[in-house]
Amino acid sequence: MKTALWTTWLSSLPVLRGSTFLEKRDGDTRVVALPIQGTRSINPARRHRLRRRGSFAAALDNEETMYFMNATIGTPPQPIRLHLDTGSSDLWVNTPSSGNCLVHTDQCELSGTYVANDSSTSQYIGSYFNISYLDGSNAEGDYVSDTVTVGSQQLDRLQFGIGYGSSSAQGILGIGYEINEVQVGRAHMEAYRNLPSRMVEEGLIQSRSYSLWLNDLYANRGSILFGGVDSGKYEGQLQTLPIQSETGIFAEFMVTLTGIELRNRTIGDKHMALAVLLDSGSSLTYLQDDMVKEIYTALGVHWTSTELVGYVPCSLAQERIDLTFNFSSPRIAVPMNELVLEIVTDKGDRPTFADGAPACLFGIAPAGHGTNVLGDTFLRSAYVVYDMDRNQVSLAQTRFNSTVTKVQGIAAAGMNGTNGVPGATLVTNPVTATSGLVGYNAAGMGPKNAGGHGVSAMGRRWVLGLSFLVSLSGW
Ligand SMILES: *[C@@H]1O[C@H](CO)[C@@H](O)[C@H](O)[C@H]1NC(C)=O
Ligand SMILES: *[C@@H]1O[C@H](CO)[C@@H](O)[C@H](O)[C@H]1NC(C)=O
Ligand SMILES: *[C@@H]1O[C@H](CO)[C@@H](O)[C@H](O)[C@H]1NC(C)=O
Ligand SMILES: *[C@@H]1O[C@H](CO)[C@@H](O)[C@H](O)[C@H]1NC(C)=O
Ligand SMILES: *[C@@H]1O[C@H](CO)[C@@H](O)[C@H](O)[C@H]1NC(C)=O
Ligand SMILES: *[C@@H]1O[C@H](CO)[C@@H](O)[C@H](O)[C@H]1NC(C)=O
Ligand SMILES: *[C@@H]1O[C@H](CO)[C@@H](O)[C@H](O)[C@H]1NC(C)=O
Repeated sequence: MKTALWTTWLSSLPVLRGSTFLEKRDGDTRVVALPIQGTRSINPARRHRLRRRGSFAAALDNEETMYFMNATIGTPPQPIRLHLDTGSSDLWVNTPSSGNCLVHTDQCELSGTYVANDSSTSQYIGSYFNISYLDGSNAEGDYVSDTVTVGSQQLDRLQFGIGYGSSSAQGILGIGYEINEVQVGRAHMEAYRNLPSRMVEEGLIQSRSYSLWLNDLYANRGSILFGGVDSGKYEGQLQTLPIQSETGIFAEFMVTLTGIELRNRTIGDKHMALAVLLDSGSSLTYLQDDMVKEIYTALGVHWTSTELVGYVPCSLAQERIDLTFNFSSPRIAVPMNELVLEIVTDKGDRPTFADGAPACLFGIAPAGHGTNVLGDTFLRSAYVVYDMDRNQVSLAQTRFNSTVTKVQGIAAAGMNGTNGVPGATLVTNPVTATSGLVGYNAAGMGPKNAGGHGVSAMGRRWVLGLSFLVSLSGW
């Protein structure tokens, strides 16, 4: 089945090929551009079982609908594929002898694994690496440091975790705030410099910032630009919003959502000021149950209480309907075809409703008591600049499939004459979130209000019940 899933990937973007990974421009414009790739088809059966604590039996999707980038670790280099996650802050990789990889050898081979003893540059740091994501997956083992290469850029002695025990075959590259590292949250130690910080330290980029262009669901390729912004990849103007702190601490990419519209209809509270997490590690978008109910009703989404997700006829993708998200001023329109996800069974078939119509997964699911998360089904429609130096996020409508590249560096905070992201305007009177902030609670511990189902703020991967095919036929 691997082939069926991975052959839809396209080659790297022409503009990002080869030696242009690092673009050095006049003056102080330093950026690191890297291609990323994602998957389109989802195979509900191709995942291992995992029982979520006290809730429901579910299957954890470890491989599909994620965005990856390539890297190598060690000397000589060991190739690794990393799931890019703005919702967590640690890089970790599996080792081939982890319990998980002994069982899922093929998946681990595909993702890549790391053997510290095979690298002459590996240095042991401590055995306190222990991360859990609230989708139920986890990894624990050693923290080490080693040479990590992304694109043509090499970072020596970058700290990361090795999952000697893990429940996921896929290594993760968390690029969020350092305070969200499990070394801080669990081991109560000082933060270490994670990848964005090390890039600044090495002078590869000027500020702890990056722009993520996930691109079209049907393109499966996009790019991440560390330390810069590419005005060829969005429409209109980038608008800058403050990140919402949690009890005074900037720990996650929370911004205030002030409204959702579906056709001419307002979804949810007219005076919404809801904190939502921008999380590339989450395949789906999770919103308050009442809002999801309104959306489902308006669009005729079939709800499955066992799986906590909704299904729609795949033909909904052809409807020219947008779901528009308002953030004080910037508005991001998400077209219906970005919200309708194809799924395949392990036989390669597309599941159908009882009347024979092909069934697709809907890209928005209820958050329950958990954090509201704008995952990949939202993020593909937006060009997002994450700026951890200024605690700001800049948003614009994405330009799908753009081959235009106009890169500018993002200066360090505090530089004269720079207000941050080139070409971006600050939103005047941005709304402060009055709900949806659960309070900072360091990585690995999860939001304070964890409980019930569907709760996850970090590194969330979507979860689909095993009863999928059975329940479909009952409709
Ligand atoms: C990652 O490496 C694989 C194997 O060499 C290649 O097929 C794929 O296109 C690369 N992906 C990216 C995003 O560079
Ligand atoms: C790495 O090598 C050391 C020394 O040879 C050995 O003690 C250790 O068990 C090895 N670690 C692993 C994970 O194989
Ligand atoms: C990792 O953390 C979890 C949750 O706190 C705990 O149950 C587990 O024992 C820890 N693992 C190690 C090796 O300390
Ligand atoms: C982007 O390119 C993909 C692959 O070529 C294509 O399927 C898709 O329709 C394009 N999207 C848009 C919005 O043009
Ligand atoms: C939606 O609003 C537009 C412009 O205000 C109007 O032309 C259109 O008829 C409205 N559509 C519906 C379904 O109400
Ligand atoms: C977007 O939200 C802001 C803040 O609530 C509001 O002032 C503005 O009117 C909204 N924009 C639209 C087009 O609804
Ligand atoms: C900003 O400009 C002032 C006046 O020219 C200068 O004194 C100061 O050092 C500059 N600060 C930075 C961060 O460049």
